[in-house]
Amino acid sequence: MTQNAIDSPSLNPSPPDSQTNRLIVQFVLAATIILVCVLLVVWGIHKVQVSDPYVHDVLTSNGRLERGQQLFWQNCATCHGLKGTGEVGPDLQHVSERKSQIALIKQVTSGKTPPMPQFQPNTQDMADLLEFLNSL
Ligand code: HEC
Repeated sequence: MTQNAIDSPSLNPSPPDSQTNRLIVQFVLAATIILVCVLLVVWGIHKVQVSDPYVHDVLTSNGRLERGQQLFWQNCATCHGLKGTGEVGPDLQHVSERKSQIALIKQVTSGKTPPMPQFQPNTQDMADLLEFLNSL
């Protein structure tokens, strides 16, 4: 009688070790919980930042590109170049692909990265500047 393939030892793995299985389940559960927590924190930070009234007003104002360019030339071009290609300050080409809108607003208003000064534009001016930065 021919031997059934299912009976062959190589196709008949030893029964799963239940302790290993339990460890895997626990690991997956822990990883999921950590992931959910991280997502909640990131989402929370985003919410808090967007609910900052200044950021909110900037993001809901219509930026005017030409005025943004003027503001940039007056305040930023000495360091970043007339076209944002960089002088003392870094090249700002495609900066809006590297940084979020919120990060760009903070960059201009926080003064946390000397020698770049802290600017305090009103929300409309900031929206105009942001429009210009997004066009680079
Ligand atoms: C005195 C020179 C100076 C002026 C004026 C200045 N910056 Fe900067 N800026 C810098 C420097 C230096 C950095 C790099 C800071 C760092 O990350 O350490 C920087 C960084 C930045 C960045 C982040 C770039 C990146 O790749 O992450 C942005 C955006 C920016 N500046 C926008 C502006 C805008 C808009 C203005 C005008 C309102 C301005 N800067 C005026 C010097 C300046």
